[in-house]
Parts: sequence; C-alpha cells; structure tokens
Amino acid sequence: MRLPERQLAVLEAASATDERTIDEIAAETGLKPETVTGAAFDLRDEGLLSLTESAAETVELTDEGHRYVDSGLPETRLYRAGLALDAADAAVSMGRVIGEADLDGPEVDIALSNFARKGFGSIDSGELTVDPDADPDSDPEAAALAALADGDSPAVDDGVVEQLDSRGLVDRGESVTRSVTLTDDGVDALMTGVEATETVSALTPELLASGEWRDVEFAEYNVEADAPTTQGGRKHVLRRTADRVKDVLVGMGFQEMEGPHADSDFWINDCLFMPQDHPARTHWDRFALDVDPMTDIPDELIARVEAAHRDGWGVDGDGYHSPWSEDFAREIALRGHTTSLSMRYLSGIAGAELEPPQRYFSVEKVYRNDTLDPTHLLEFFQIEGWVMAEDLSVRDLMGTFEEFYRQFGITDIRFKPHYNPYTEPSFELFGEHPETGEEIEIGNSGVFREEVTGPLGVDCDVMAWGLALERLAMLTTGAEDIRDLHGTLADIEFLRNAEVSY
Ligand code: PHE
Repeated sequence: MRLPERQLAVLEAASATDERTIDEIAAETGLKPETVTGAAFDLRDEGLLSLTESAAETVELTDEGHRYVDSGLPETRLYRAGLALDAADAAVSMGRVIGEADLDGPEVDIALSNFARKGFGSIDSGELTVDPDADPDSDPEAAALAALADGDSPAVDDGVVEQLDSRGLVDRGESVTRSVTLTDDGVDALMTGVEATETVSALTPELLASGEWRDVEFAEYNVEADAPTTQGGRKHVLRRTADRVKDVLVGMGFQEMEGPHADSDFWINDCLFMPQDHPARTHWDRFALDVDPMTDIPDELIARVEAAHRDGWGVDGDGYHSPWSEDFAREIALRGHTTSLSMRYLSGIAGAELEPPQRYFSVEKVYRNDTLDPTHLLEFFQIEGWVMAEDLSVRDLMGTFEEFYRQFGITDIRFKPHYNPYTEPSFELFGEHPETGEEIEIGNSGVFREEVTGPLGVDCDVMAWGLALERLAMLTTGAEDIRDLHGTLADIEFLRNAEVSY
C-alpha cells in the first residue's frame, strides 16, 4: 500500500490499543495539529483509523479577569482598605475607604455591590463597616481566577464559573478533542508494509514542463478539516448594494448622472416648483453653506423658473404669486435630494442626450437635518432616476419599480398616493421588512408637472423617483436598524457576514 507521507506518519504514531489525541500525535510526529487532523480524517475515510470526538467546556479569563488576578478583586481591595482604616471598630466614610483602596470609575460600583454580596461588611448612610471575621483570602472567586490564570480550569467549581461569567470576568466556550485508534485494517496495512508517496499540493509550471506531474500524487483538499476563521477586508454591504443597483439599472437601459453635493437652491428646489416659503426650505431642514452664491446658471432658465413660480406655466398653471428671490435661488446648501441632478440633466446643461426616450439614474448621497432614529440618518444614499418618453402613465411607473425590485427578490411592493409640489400624480412606495413584518417606506415618485418640465424646455412626459438605498439594504439583509449599516454603532459582525441578495 502507498500513502502520502504525512498520513503514513500519523498511522505509525497511532496505536491499536490506546486512544491518542491529535495533539499527542502532533507532538510525536512534529506535524502541525491541523495537518494531523487532515490526515486523520483521510485515514478514517480509508478505514485505517477510527476517530472519536469529545467536546469540553473551555473557560478563559477576560481582560478584566486578568486585571483582577494582578490587582485583586475590587471588593477585596475595598475590604482591606476598610481594615486599614479601622472600619472594623467604627464606621468610616465610604469616600475615604474608596480613596484608600484606590478604586476608580466603574470599579467603585463593582466593589460596593460585591462587598455587600460577599458579606465583607455593611454599608449604611454613606459609611462603611467591615466584618473582622470575613476572610477574602479564602474567597472562591479569587481562588478560581488564580487557578484559571494558571491554566488549571478543571479545578474550578461550576457555580463559581457561573458567577465569574455573570461578572464578565471569564469567557466560556467549547473545544473539541479528537482522538484516533488504529482499526484492524490499519494494523494489517502497517504489518504488510506501507510506502510513503510524495504528495504535491500545487501544480507548478516546472511539474508541467518536466512531465513529472504524471507520476506525483496530488494532495486532496479536505473540506471537513478545522480551519481558523480569517476575516479579510470586504466591500461594505451598502457599497455592494449600491453596485448591484447600478448593475440592475444599467441593465434596464439607464445612464448614470453625476453632480455636486453642495448645490444652489435653484437646482435643489426652485426648478422643482418648490415655493420659496415651503417649510422644507427653512434653515431648520437645510444644511446651508456660508459660501459665495452660484453665478453660472443660465439667465433664460432663471427667468422661466421665476415665471412658473410667479404666474404659473401651461394652460391651467396659476403659480404661487408668492415672493420669489433670485438671490435665495443662488444660495448654496447640501442637497437634500438628488433630484437636483435630474434637474441639471433635464435642463441640458449637463450635456445629456434629451431626445426621447431617455433614462437616467444616480446612486448618491443626500443630506437632511432629520432626527436620528432606526430608519433615519442625517445623510443617506438616494437612488434617483427618471424616464423621459411620450405618453407615460402610472402603469409605466409601477411596472418600472416592480421590475427593479424583483431583481432583489422583492415582489410585494405597495404604492400609496402622495403629494409632492413637483409631481402629479405622486406615489410613495412601501416594502415589508423581512424580520419585523413592518411596512417601511422605501421611496417617493411621480410624473413631473408641467411647471417643472416646461421651464426646463422638455416637452414630453418625465416620470421620476428617489428611492432609499439604506431601506433597500434593510429589506435585502434583514437589518432592523439603519445604524447597524453605517455610522459609529454599526455592528461589525453583521457587516462581516451580511450577504447582498441577487
Ligand atoms: N425628491 C423626492 C424625495 O427626496 C423623490 C422624488 C424624485 C419624487 C423625483 C418624485 C420625483 O423624496
């Protein structure tokens, strides 16, 4: 019989009468434990070894546990400080004892609650008395910490481990010990003689050139062997969702728009027929920037937008008849939606093709002065888009969303009539959260009014939308809080493991 070298070494180190652990065999053969494990699995599959596994609890000290091994448990330090200040005879102010014990921050509370629990003394109206008969030297928790620090976990009583665990001083886990014994076939094989073959783990150009590949034995991958988890870098789940959104929209025939994050109110609001006294345009909601106003806006366009606001546009248009200031229109703020990009593109200044039909999109950041909560951030990504064509209807709008969301496995979006100053009709979109079952708002959409398209010089229908990328990611990953996805509270485990569904 021929066996790869490492398997032969493991076979020879195994015994027919005694179980040997992987670690024992590793020590004897000089192979790494994971190599021995791999070989042992292979030998078991060939019927030459039998393999048993036993799981055992492991208990390890946390950083805080280690600190107390060095400096003593906070309650013990408190007790000794009390003794030193004669608190066995008369009550001493707690502040003095805490100072003497050199306790600080959260350790103070830890010391006080455990001091009382262990009966080291009593605390009354801010004064502390110690019980002279208490004996911190025989405290089982301190003894257990010391034993664990010495690597002697079997000596530690379960109840005490439980207590240390609840104090966050130990981490409990599980380890698996594997042992092997030679089977009868294994013994036979060794008696008849086994030869070692050299195994090759990678096919090299040299092996190919020399033709040697014909004679060597290739190592097989053992997909069952234990392997340490490695956490490599990976793209953030939101970025992956954004990339996926771009792929889907490009696949649907859309071209990408780009433009400034800080833009004039003209592009952010005025073009959208948002009255200048609209509540969303006050300083409460806008992130206004103290920079020079925007000068490079085409004059004719300003005149037409102003006319739409003052007197209306189209046969039935009446306008707002409210004040309109060109200076305000030129002021700069962080964009609260990326519909500013749609306006720039539809106006022709961005050099877009404007012969219908046309489709454009962006997946870009927007900024709003909202209150932070599980579904709101001050900045988030909006999936903006518009389709320009003759005779668009609500069916086209709904069909486009259904097609888009279906690519993410979302087939149950719902529409609710809505109002926007710039679209008529308008719809909000809702999706059901996969974990909570709640309906969450995922977007806003509509067909641009003539007051918007007219001044821009567009004379056919344009349907448009702004969808929230984070909400889409919540639906596809099941995240329940937007702050799990980004920001300082983001859950690193979630980010490591979340999959973007395709
Ligand atoms: N600007 C809207 C928002 O931020 C989205 C939208 C864009 C709605 C275009 C209709 C048309 O909610």
